[in-house]
Amino acid sequence: EKPVYILAIESSCDDTAAAVLKNDKVVSNVVARQSVHEEYGGVVPELASRAHQKNIVPVVDVALTKAGISREQLAAVAFTQGPGLMGSLLVGSSFAKSLALALNIPLIAVNHMQAHILAHFIDEEGYDKPEFPFLAMTISGGHTQIVRVNDYFDMQVIGETTDDAVGEAFDKTAKILGLPYPGGPLVDKYAREGNPKAFAFTKPKVPGLDFSFSGLKTQILYFIRKNTAENPEFVQQHIADICASIQYTIITILMDKLKEAVKETGIKQVAIGGGVSANSGIRETLKQAEKKYGWKTFIPKFEYTTDNAAMIGIVGYRKYLEEQFTDATVTSKARITF
Ligand code: KG4
Ligand code: ZN
Repeated sequence: EKPVYILAIESSCDDTAAAVLKNDKVVSNVVARQSVHEEYGGVVPELASRAHQKNIVPVVDVALTKAGISREQLAAVAFTQGPGLMGSLLVGSSFAKSLALALNIPLIAVNHMQAHILAHFIDEEGYDKPEFPFLAMTISGGHTQIVRVNDYFDMQVIGETTDDAVGEAFDKTAKILGLPYPGGPLVDKYAREGNPKAFAFTKPKVPGLDFSFSGLKTQILYFIRKNTAENPEFVQQHIADICASIQYTIITILMDKLKEAVKETGIKQVAIGGGVSANSGIRETLKQAEKKYGWKTFIPKFEYTTDNAAMIGIVGYRKYLEEQFTDATVTSKARITF
């Protein structure tokens, strides 16, 4: 049978990404990261959409070239409909719409959060695919959710953050420590050399399967202020132990709720997705949970953790098989649930 080539475009935040999938296999996966935001300590929406406009054509060209196919071989174009920054989403959706129209092929709208979860269905050597139903914990800069995944497009949020996302907790911690944005990966790097039990932080008490991270952020701020007042070199001298202790606290908060979710649902297949699933501590802890609790865990390949278009492509492929197409009147959505 003729292979199905899907071009996928992701532009929900500050990365311009394009990928080509051949059925459920990734044949190219390109990301242009935007460095303009670093000096502002966070993503500036207006700058993000301008950078997307500059990057989108070359990024798509590179993705097609790397895949070794021409536009005419594409079966469909998939794009991120939301959630995300409106100006950023609009660049990707406008581009996808025009291309689908010009090539006269189907257009497929993809939910970014579903994509973080369904990334586990990309066919990759050495990576198993979960079976339905499974639990997925989406941990990113914008979201922290526990989702019960009944089928590809049948998902139920059973727990979520009531304030900050876990990625924000990492990034804000980094900011307090004077590390550049986005600080999550740097906290991870320092944590590897530190003692996770060096400093103790209290965990929030949140009912059910929900999360809260704003209290931890305040706690860290006061902890650093107090210790720096006594010793101005405190952060520099103890950076590894501070990062390790904070990361340990965050991982414990996440794991406690996951354990609770497994207990409540009886589902022992657990997947993670989203930018924070790149964290080495979380990956290690989840791997150990297989032996420790008898779970089967699914940890995405590193390149499918932070925002990427391959995950949009796999959803595009599933929707292509189910003929879930959309027309050019479809609108971008800053907020959408499942
Ligand atoms: O999924 P993502 O790329 O974008 C959103 O949809 O939000 O996630 C980005 C988030 C940022 O907060 C970043 O600091 C965090 O993921 N992150 C990490 C690591 N790598 C990325 N946090 C902790 N450890 C990491 N290694
Ligand atoms: Zn994301």
